[in-house]
Amino acid sequence: MASSAELHQRRERAVPRGVGHATAIYAKRAKNAEIWSEDGKRYIDFAAGIAVVNTGHQHPKVVAAVEEQLKAFSHVCFQVTPYESYVRLAERLNAIAPVAAPAKTMLISTGAEAVENAVKVARAYTGRSGIISFSGGFHGRTHMGMALTGKVVPYKKGFGPFPADVYNVAFPNIYHGVSSEQSVDSIKALFKYTADPSSIAAIIIEPVQGEGGFYIAPFDFLRSLRALCDEHGILLIADEIQTGFARTGKMFGMEHSGVKADVVTLAKGLAGGLPLAAITGRADVMDASSPGGLGGTYASKTKAIAAAHAVLDAIEEEQLCERANALGKIILDRCNQLKMRSNLNCIGDVRGLGAMCAIELVKDAGGEPSPQLTQALMKVANENGLILLSCGTYGNVIRFLVPLTASDALVREGMDIFETSLTEAVTRVA
Ligand SMILES: Cc1ncc(COP(=O)(O)O)c(C=O)c1O
Repeated sequence: MASSAELHQRRERAVPRGVGHATAIYAKRAKNAEIWSEDGKRYIDFAAGIAVVNTGHQHPKVVAAVEEQLKAFSHVCFQVTPYESYVRLAERLNAIAPVAAPAKTMLISTGAEAVENAVKVARAYTGRSGIISFSGGFHGRTHMGMALTGKVVPYKKGFGPFPADVYNVAFPNIYHGVSSEQSVDSIKALFKYTADPSSIAAIIIEPVQGEGGFYIAPFDFLRSLRALCDEHGILLIADEIQTGFARTGKMFGMEHSGVKADVVTLAKGLAGGLPLAAITGRADVMDASSPGGLGGTYASKTKAIAAAHAVLDAIEEEQLCERANALGKIILDRCNQLKMRSNLNCIGDVRGLGAMCAIELVKDAGGEPSPQLTQALMKVANENGLILLSCGTYGNVIRFLVPLTASDALVREGMDIFETSLTEAVTRVA
């Protein structure tokens, strides 16, 4: 049996460095919110495969649904020989997505593809080309995804040129000094100085920025954005790829503000670990493109669709929105207690919506971001048996993405390790 260390050496020879790594832990098996490495070590998983297994690793319903589908048929291609499970999943997503009814849904495989297709339908519907996105936003690694993404290193550097007619404006980030009003003003300034609103097809926003640092878009801001879109005939695309499927304590992040989008992009938590993405949007918008303009060979995956049905059932039956709120409270309470500890002068901010929680690490009371402490903490946490993920424009945010099926006891155990690791990491970087 190869150790994680040996595998890591092999990986460095075989896999390009551009495929980053948050840990050097090589997974052998996983169950609910725990992962066991090739070395036989057990880890508590606070990453959930980057917000994918909201329903836990190897959820029995997901496993059973996939096994059953595999026995029936694997791939026939929905555009060639359609099947009921796709249509039923579209119906289910149409009924719950935060868009005005009637809605329609198309399926694809990855989040970036969902974003690509959302832009396609928005352009086809409006006959306009401009797209507005936000600083710190992340929308994927395809060319349009990169163009929309508001962070240069590592996502854009060296990969241009990007598709034209994409404009990046300031995300309302209170902690870093940008108010909702300033953000709205930056859009109005764009309309005045750079691009006429009549040329803008859509504005795309994450209700809570994921890679950008778990900054919550103020609800009043989302309402202003909706009004601005309505005033100018612009579509609002909500990128719910990281916020969706109970993560924020509601099925979708937009629900907290009551704002309906015209199109939503969905992926990650949708299929419990199998690759599946969707866009759900207003039927008139979704129908704007010609037959054949949307889709793809693997734009529908029978096993992933079976998994998605099981995920939607599990979220409802196991009340995972409620669980997200309960687990988020455990995490935030503990982080706030740590923030109060006077000898740990390294926590700039604690925030969260449901179980989408984050802690921002700083060098001192002055608030200068500390990516060094963040990296050290992740390493120490790994040594102590906890998997953490970082994010944020300054690389100084730890995001908590525990599977929503984790028990209170496991999350508390994880937070104990978190606390010990933070104290140790502070000493190491001192
Ligand atoms: C908000 C958001 N949009 C888009 C994407 C891209 O999704 P994928 O990595 O499946 O292409 C991500 C992935 O992290 C995301 O968080």
